[in-house]
Amino acid sequence: MTDLVVRKMSFQFDDPAYKVPFMWQPANPNFAIFCNAFTFIAVPFEKYIIAALREAQDRLREDPEVAAEADAFLRQEAQHAAAHRKHMLALIEQYPGLERCYDQTMTLYNQLIAAHPVEFHAAYIANLEATFTPMFKVILDHRDSLFGGGDERVAGLMVWHFVEEIEHRSSGLKLYRHLMPDPWYRVRCIRQTFRHVGVIANTVAKGFDEHVPLADRTTSAEQVMADALRSEFRYRVRKHGVRPIFHAVPTTRLLTMLWRLALSQTPHHDPQDQPLPEWASTWMAEYDRGTDMTTYAGKG
Ligand SMILES: [Fe+2]
Ligand SMILES: [Fe+2]
Repeated sequence: MTDLVVRKMSFQFDDPAYKVPFMWQPANPNFAIFCNAFTFIAVPFEKYIIAALREAQDRLREDPEVAAEADAFLRQEAQHAAAHRKHMLALIEQYPGLERCYDQTMTLYNQLIAAHPVEFHAAYIANLEATFTPMFKVILDHRDSLFGGGDERVAGLMVWHFVEEIEHRSSGLKLYRHLMPDPWYRVRCIRQTFRHVGVIANTVAKGFDEHVPLADRTTSAEQVMADALRSEFRYRVRKHGVRPIFHAVPTTRLLTMLWRLALSQTPHHDPQDQPLPEWASTWMAEYDRGTDMTTYAGKG
């Protein structure tokens, strides 16, 4: 029925003697901010997935295959939300003002749920989840340069989540297709989807800049999140200045990622056929072998 595996992970973000630093990756501060923002976006987004699709529970149960996919998908997302929540709370404990980021983004998602029918939410989820495989493939393919030397717990949390997003890359689309057979409706929701995601990311970034002292975050989170793509190409042309997130990634790989991101939004795209990072299966094999995956990022 479905091959998805629901894995329960117990990350240690609440050890008072070993606090997780905001700047968990000093070798790549922009990537550290990106992953911290990913945590603060993942919690409300995954709660939104669960709450929005709950409205369509009865329709998703009509087809046993869709029902099984929905069940495993939502259970994986619930695990992600719970784990990122631990990371988020560890940061809020150190910078209490960050709680506002959580409240504001939850409000934005609750307003979205109230404003649109369930078909829109299925389109939003399918559109956003379709971008994950091209983006996370680049991150996992270059995991040594991105995670190396950083806090192992944050690295472990991120790679687990990225591996499972790739594992369930087609779930959002499968559920969307069941609720709305017209692929063009999803395409018509693209602008609203990414405008909303942009507002969420900007809200989180502004909160970081407001509540985390510059000494701890090194740079402006708002600039990192708003200027991510342009800074990659500016750096490649000038060959100096602030190093962007993917500075160690060859330009051709970056361009391929952008091309695949664009394709991911076309009406007949199916994430199932995407090229995958080989290392995702290594991660799964290590999990099956019983390795502690909470600090595993396969470095070295
Ligand atoms: Fe997730
Ligand atoms: Fe997902």
